[in-house]
Amino acid sequence: MKRREFLRDAVRGFFIALAAFFAAVLWYIYPSRMQEKKVRYFFLMDEADLPRKGVRKVDFSYDLGERRISSRVYLAASGKGITIFSPVCTHLGCMVNWDSNRREFLCPCHGGRYAMDGTVLGGPPPRPLTELPWKVEQEKVYVGIAV
Ligand code: FES
Repeated sequence: MKRREFLRDAVRGFFIALAAFFAAVLWYIYPSRMQEKKVRYFFLMDEADLPRKGVRKVDFSYDLGERRISSRVYLAASGKGITIFSPVCTHLGCMVNWDSNRREFLCPCHGGRYAMDGTVLGGPPPRPLTELPWKVEQEKVYVGIAV
């Protein structure tokens, strides 16, 4: 093996090892982002308790392995039906609140504003509130969470 080939292979090997190292670091720091998330459905409420009109905040919790997770969603009921929104602002992840006087979701962090249907009305959010899948089985409402 010539000296030039040896150096080329050594440099290539170094960069491959460096890339593998950074991939391992990212996997360690952000394991949930590196893995495919799966939607699982968790009990939210009885079907009879679904709102007929307006927006309702629902706090609920579910078991994920050994952990008990507390969570929140917003149910928006209109003539078009019911939509369940994640309360996580699409800008930088703060929790939005429903302002019943203004009839808007407001983000306390940077002034993001969303309409009742989740569309952006103002501020920095780049996209609408995230709609969550949901279903009714045997008169129980289940909401889909990516875990
Ligand atoms: Fe909501 Fe910035 S995090 S507007």
